Amino acid sequence: MGYEKEINKLRKEKNAVILAHYYQTSDIQEIADYVGDSLGLARTAEQVEADIIVFSGVHFMAETAKILNPSTKVVLPDENAGCSLADAAPKDKFKAFIDQYPDHKVISYVNASADVKTMSDVVCTSSNAVDIVNSFDKDEKLIFAPDKNLGAYVNKMTGRDMVLYNGTCEVHDILTAERTLHLKAKNPNAPLVAHPECQPQVLAVADFVGSTSQILKYCRESNAKKIVVATETGITHQMKKESPEKEFVVVPADETCACNDCQYMKMNTMEKLYLCLKNEKPEIIMDEKTIEQAKKPIEKMLDISKRLNIIK
Ligand code: 13P
Ligand code: SF4
Repeated sequence: MGYEKEINKLRKEKNAVILAHYYQTSDIQEIADYVGDSLGLARTAEQVEADIIVFSGVHFMAETAKILNPSTKVVLPDENAGCSLADAAPKDKFKAFIDQYPDHKVISYVNASADVKTMSDVVCTSSNAVDIVNSFDKDEKLIFAPDKNLGAYVNKMTGRDMVLYNGTCEVHDILTAERTLHLKAKNPNAPLVAHPECQPQVLAVADFVGSTSQILKYCRESNAKKIVVATETGITHQMKKESPEKEFVVVPADETCACNDCQYMKMNTMEKLYLCLKNEKPEIIMDEKTIEQAKKPIEKMLDISKRLNIIK
């Protein structure tokens, strides 16, 4: 059964807004009121005037929406839609890590729990990580967590030597340079675009590195007929929609599989989206203190991004 009709009816009745990430399935991206990357979704969630936000993404994204818009009910289709990066930094382990560097400022990637955000000076996304780091004085000592690949990339781009927490995205970290180079050799005229959660060896051979929305912009504006893509497969929905005449070749995770699906992002389905809108759960519930403390570093990020006019 198709759920579009019911979802449309319910969202009107309940004054609900559906936000979705670019890694969601095509049907979810099509029914959403807004589709974006982590930064765009956070900005939208902050401004939404609705009674319910249905957040079709992963848990840390829905949590960020709740922190930025606490008076609105935030529900997500599957509460188990986590993230390997957020899982890599449990509260106590993270606290023990940063305690080793008491004179360091803490920059945390948005792909982390609210508890980690409460212990951070500023948050960043892949859209603004380089600019956020550059907003600190050159001699400031910094910790970057939890993604070591993004951290290494930002170190390279900014000439810094930040202390990196040892976390990875299980989707991007398995895309090897060997497979990437093999595809590049097979498609010599196709530029390679990559998400900065990929390993340094993959990023070193990429023609463009950026967040999902920045990758989409590059693909939209490129004159290339074919583009090799090193990120999660969901993004090809918008790529094909925006540039139907172009071919997008996704770097495979291994020889037997042509897809790199994020198991967490893909836990959300149209049926679960319909059910969470209908039942208004699972809901993101957070205590006021956590909201208040986690909000500061996120708002700092949003202020810096607004000032620098970083794209959504
Ligand atoms: P973006 O902010 O680039 O959309 O990245 C989110 C994410 O989870 C990438 O794996
Ligand atoms: Fe987390 Fe990676 Fe999935 Fe993004 S793609 S939500 S970083 S596991």
